[in-house]
Amino acid sequence: MKQIRTQVGIIGAGPAGLTLAHWLKQQGIESVIIEHRSRDYVQARVRAGLLEQNTVDILKDLGLADRLVREGHAHHGVYLSFDGERIRVPFDTYTGGRHITIYGQQEVVKDLTDAWLAGGNTLLFEAPARQIADYDTKQPKIYFEHEGEEGVVTCDFVAACDGFHGIGRKTMPKNSYNEYSITYPFSWLGILANVAPSSEELIYAYHERGFALHSLRSSTVSRLYIQVENEDHIDNWTDDQIWEELSVRLGTPGWQLHSGPIFEKSITPMRSYLIDNMQIGRLFLAGDAAHIVPPTGGKGLNLAIADVKHLVDGFVEYYRQHSYRGLEHYTQTALRRIWRAQDFSNFMTTLFHKQDDHGSFQYRLQRAKFDYIRMSDAYAATIAENYVGLPFDALTRFP
Ligand code: FAD
Ligand code: PHB
Repeated sequence: MKQIRTQVGIIGAGPAGLTLAHWLKQQGIESVIIEHRSRDYVQARVRAGLLEQNTVDILKDLGLADRLVREGHAHHGVYLSFDGERIRVPFDTYTGGRHITIYGQQEVVKDLTDAWLAGGNTLLFEAPARQIADYDTKQPKIYFEHEGEEGVVTCDFVAACDGFHGIGRKTMPKNSYNEYSITYPFSWLGILANVAPSSEELIYAYHERGFALHSLRSSTVSRLYIQVENEDHIDNWTDDQIWEELSVRLGTPGWQLHSGPIFEKSITPMRSYLIDNMQIGRLFLAGDAAHIVPPTGGKGLNLAIADVKHLVDGFVEYYRQHSYRGLEHYTQTALRRIWRAQDFSNFMTTLFHKQDDHGSFQYRLQRAKFDYIRMSDAYAATIAENYVGLPFDALTRFP
């Protein structure tokens, strides 16, 4: 059996696992990563694209943002559209210069993977973790498979950064947490297309035919989404139909959507989910392993990185000062931001998705919210500060 000994055993080479590994290394703490999928698969997985200021700052501090700074797009505002009326929420006015950066999640994963392996560190691909054992002792273990052989990582702590379908959460005793979830009655059909973005900043749109979002990946690649029914199937949509729908839903007088060849399309369900305990003994969960938000606020990836920050703080305190205090409070600290992001993601989702008939009570509430953004700086500021992401000290300041 392959035997590995390290300080922190990390399951999952997504944004959470990779950032944790790099950050621990910077702090002189050793770790190894065990990843279920192949390198190609992980790097090709199309997902999020919106990085909060906090996330970019962390990657810069870790020296992992060279390409991000070169190729990412800084956005200082966002467009919100309702029934064809479009307004802009400027970030600089409301957030003291904080902004977001558009850079694909798979690019972040690629940069972090390349740097980790170039540094001679251990990351095993195609190595599914099968069991987490002895988390209630000082030597927890991760049993895994790799190249037809069984292996075990013996460590001081296990960090389960293994996403929603991983084994981390499943290992937690059912009576150690409460579970909260909302399943939405709609999904997102997302496309990537070889066409220059039709807008320099993102557009979130409510339309009587449903939600639409215009995002981008580069000056030649656009990323767009439309609300579809949960039962819908990607084969039901021709490329022309997708463009037509996007054009109608995002439309506003004097603006035109440019279409181009679509090279990726898929449907993603929408869910809000969390468990209110992210640790047991020496096992800690971070990122999607513990919570999912609907993507309307662009929070999923950023929340995963924020968990990692709190976890690193706890590990550093443990190894430097032999104090367990930070780790003991990990869940409590992380949950403040998680609930904030849950609320904002749910707010953006219910504001911009079609839920009931045009003219219904629900519709009028949505319309009233949109009108309030236009009339109140305070309301616009609330949206801006949540969207760019609250600074870390804002959430730890109150008792
Ligand atoms: P993940 O990225 O899921 O990484 C977990 C890793 O663990 C994976 O590589 C997985 O292969 C590995 N793993 C799982 N089980 C095991 C095991 N047993 N052993 C070893 N390895 C294992 N967020 C947004 O903000 N905007 C979006 O548009 C958006 N779109 C999304 C689309 C999809 C289809 C999905 C699934 C998510 C999307 N998200 C989006 C959410 C965002 O991508 C996630 O929040 C983010 O990936 C979380 O990072 P993570 O590291 O916690 O988990
Ligand atoms: C994306 O670019 O994929 C993206 C941007 C903002 C979101 C969701 C997805 O809210």
